[in-house]
Amino acid sequence: MIKKKIIFNDFCEWTFDTTRAEGSFIWDETGRKLIDFTSGWNVTNLGWNHPEITEAMILQAKRSSYVPMWTLDPIQEKLAEELTKALPVGLNTCSRATGGTEANEEALKTARAYTGRKKILGFKDTYHGQSFGTLAIGYLPEYEVVKAISPLVPGFIQLDYPAISSREPQEKILSDFSTQLEEVLKNEDVAAVVTEAGIITGWGSTLMAPSGFLTAVRNLTKKYGTLLILDEVGTGFSRCGKLFGMEIEGVVPDIVTFAKGFSNGAAAIGAMVTTTEIGERTCNVTNLTSTFGWMPIACAASLKTLEIHQRDKVWEKAARDGDYLQASLREELKELSPAPTIRGIGMEIGVDFGQGRLVPRIVTESRKNGLHVVGDCENNLQIMPPLTIERAVLDEGIEILVKIIRSL
Ligand SMILES: Cc1ncc(COP(=O)(O)O)c(C=O)c1O
Repeated sequence: MIKKKIIFNDFCEWTFDTTRAEGSFIWDETGRKLIDFTSGWNVTNLGWNHPEITEAMILQAKRSSYVPMWTLDPIQEKLAEELTKALPVGLNTCSRATGGTEANEEALKTARAYTGRKKILGFKDTYHGQSFGTLAIGYLPEYEVVKAISPLVPGFIQLDYPAISSREPQEKILSDFSTQLEEVLKNEDVAAVVTEAGIITGWGSTLMAPSGFLTAVRNLTKKYGTLLILDEVGTGFSRCGKLFGMEIEGVVPDIVTFAKGFSNGAAAIGAMVTTTEIGERTCNVTNLTSTFGWMPIACAASLKTLEIHQRDKVWEKAARDGDYLQASLREELKELSPAPTIRGIGMEIGVDFGQGRLVPRIVTESRKNGLHVVGDCENNLQIMPPLTIERAVLDEGIEILVKIIRSL
């Protein structure tokens, strides 16, 4: 029987209905239990339906569930306090949002308002959200969606992402990129550079920049009065082997955004965090209100999420498991010709086949064999298991995946 479409859900060959999810497992509509290698795309980093987070939300629901945007609930202040304490000194003013798109949109507005400049620089083929502004950061004019809905917001400049490749040494990639970036920034008319912390998590490509990328961006943005907006929607909350991606190179952005793993998927919440100086100089004009931003129940979920990450030092396990996962895949797939390129950091790992559009077949076969995995619908699998995954379950997932890849 063909089901009537009642919700848009056209995601490549990946769609299926879920009926239940717990820890590192997800169940499909037939009741089949799948090992999860997606975390819902970097959302359920602490595992699906974490009981401590659920408990915190229930307690909060009994206290209060809604506060209007012109008031503050103590739990919102507590969350702002804990989040900013976890960040480098200076990042101490939060704006309330319901997710990553909204947080990034707030960041773009803040950067233009603070600098008085109009231009925003981003990278081609990156994802920062669904609004006209956030699409303009990384979506190319030739994309079908852009053709259909254009014009996007004017004033955006896009550079090629300086992805590591076997064809050129990393130092050369970095120095060519720095030259190109400086060429644009030296006109002193760019309000902000928007980027993730050295890896693309939001596109399916898992491209990595050379080590030193974020430092170079930070140095050049500072030199020319441009703000650095760091999108930590995917890299945040232990995914990349540190609590936040900015810790990888010890870079402090002017503005950082969070969502996804911020509440472990338990509630819709996002945040833009900036300095007091930027916040105070812009908040009266940018007017970043959000009717459902930081609802008390969502704050309870985020507070508990942050507490668990810090209490259990989840990033340490993510770093260990990620190294293990990469080494295992490299070893098991090295005989393939051509062997796929495996790259990533922490538990954000790409397996790039380069050609053949193998990903949809791997996704489909994996599901039949008990593994839920996603990718870019073409050549790159993006592996993002819950960071709490038990080693035996991780091994089982790797075994399923390797068997399928070898059989293609
Ligand atoms: C890096 C990145 N930024 C922003 C977003 C947008 O977040 P949201 O879907 O919560 O609006 C995403 C979502 O996939 C993302 O991966």
